Amino acid sequence: MQIPNYEKARKRSHEKVLIRKFRMDEGLENLGLGKKFFLKTYGCQMNEHDSENIKGMLNIMNFQETLDMNKADLILLNTCSIRENAHNKAFGMLGRIKHLKESKPNIIVALCGCMAQEVGVVEEIKQKYKFVNFVFGTHNLDELPSLLKKSFHDSRLNIEVKSIEGDIVEEIPVKRESKYKAYVNIIYGCDKFCTYCIVPYTRGGQRSRKKEDILEEIRELVKEGYQEVTLLGQNVNAYGKDLYEDYTLAELLLDVSKTNIPRIRFITSHPWDFTENLVEVIRNHDNILNFVHLPVQSGSNEILRKMGRRYTKESYKKLYDSLRSIEGISITTDIIVGFPGETREQFEETLELVNYCKFDSAFTFIYSPRENTPASKLKDDISLEEKEQRLYELNELINKYSKKSNEDMLNKTYKVLVEGESIKEGMLFGYTETNKLVNFKGNKDNIGKIVDIKILDAKSFSLDGEIVG
Ligand code: SAH
Ligand code: SF4
Ligand code: F3S
Repeated sequence: MQIPNYEKARKRSHEKVLIRKFRMDEGLENLGLGKKFFLKTYGCQMNEHDSENIKGMLNIMNFQETLDMNKADLILLNTCSIRENAHNKAFGMLGRIKHLKESKPNIIVALCGCMAQEVGVVEEIKQKYKFVNFVFGTHNLDELPSLLKKSFHDSRLNIEVKSIEGDIVEEIPVKRESKYKAYVNIIYGCDKFCTYCIVPYTRGGQRSRKKEDILEEIRELVKEGYQEVTLLGQNVNAYGKDLYEDYTLAELLLDVSKTNIPRIRFITSHPWDFTENLVEVIRNHDNILNFVHLPVQSGSNEILRKMGRRYTKESYKKLYDSLRSIEGISITTDIIVGFPGETREQFEETLELVNYCKFDSAFTFIYSPRENTPASKLKDDISLEEKEQRLYELNELINKYSKKSNEDMLNKTYKVLVEGESIKEGMLFGYTETNKLVNFKGNKDNIGKIVDIKILDAKSFSLDGEIVG
């Protein structure tokens, strides 16, 4: 039993990162024979990709996936801590599972992901959700097979969560969701410690994967016919800083570009580490897509300072303008309203910034205090009503520009990677290079291919089009 500890989670010693290879004890290959698992994933792409690894490991143990929780022998929740509502969803689910376990006491229940790294969450599980079999953290995902084995022999709650800077584990089996586009981790953890954010505590220190390992994985994907890779990290622009003298995200992108994978994306970018060199690399390479997610969080310098973002609205605009000069680029952002002490005037500065940038789209959030973060100790005297009003006003403005950005595409032709059948009857769907969702009629043979689509109708959140040529 090992429970999380914030003192340790905060430490950054910058000692050498240990790279180890996944290995599974012999004899676990048949642990899952005849058994089904149900996996629910919350949170960001990093969690989605971790879930692909969880499925990969369960696969080699011969578990079968079920999408019906009631049929499962093993239920796993891969959780997210970023805001209160992510918590509430996971705890709501635990409530449902408790009910199920009353009638099926033999099912095994596991909780992992970012919430597992939280001291308060683990305490709550120990007190109120004792039926959970085991909890494992983001640093020991690869221990899933051995933890599972233990839980088959001993049904008591087992907590194995490490609060460390983190190692890198290579070669964890993976079962990817898509045959055409793939996530590839390039950097783990985060050292930015924005004052509102829990990620540096749940995901550990910033640590880059070796370029050889990344390129090898991508070359393999190319061989398997993948059309697109998304390079993943909480702050991809910091890539290489902890590992190399002069090999950054720009150089990595150049090397990935040479693998000839047709489409390369990278998320998320922090404005702080975004160099001019990187802007030029995006501008000059066709397979590095013209799409950048560049969270700004606020348009007020005072709030940015309190958030610990380490840039100003002026420097953000400068970088933004430089990126905008790339023809056809799409730029999206994240914004938080109602940070402790945010005045109406400061919020209006955010609206001004949105009016300046005219983002292609944005994720907007009401500030949510997170356990143990510096911002959660600040006085928060804005009423919920006022926060909701600000979010509403901001969304109105964001949606106006999203719609406009979509309307600008009308009657023009764009390359779309066809991903599958749309939820719209008889239609296919895919994404443009700029990450816009397009629905269109077409033969299923097109799935997995990049086709030219002419845009016929523009909505706020999607486009309709037709195949040309
Ligand atoms: N690493 C990325 C973002 C990761 S979290 C970056 O720094 O840009 C995704 C988004 O969630 C953040 O950009 C922020 O807008 C939002 N977020 C993070 N912590 C939050 C909190 N405590 N309350 C509300 N929104 C939050
Ligand atoms: Fe959180 Fe800031 Fe790190 Fe993004 S850069 S994950 S917002 S601490
Ligand atoms: Fe959530 Fe953890 Fe991602 S807190 S947003 S799942 S890094």
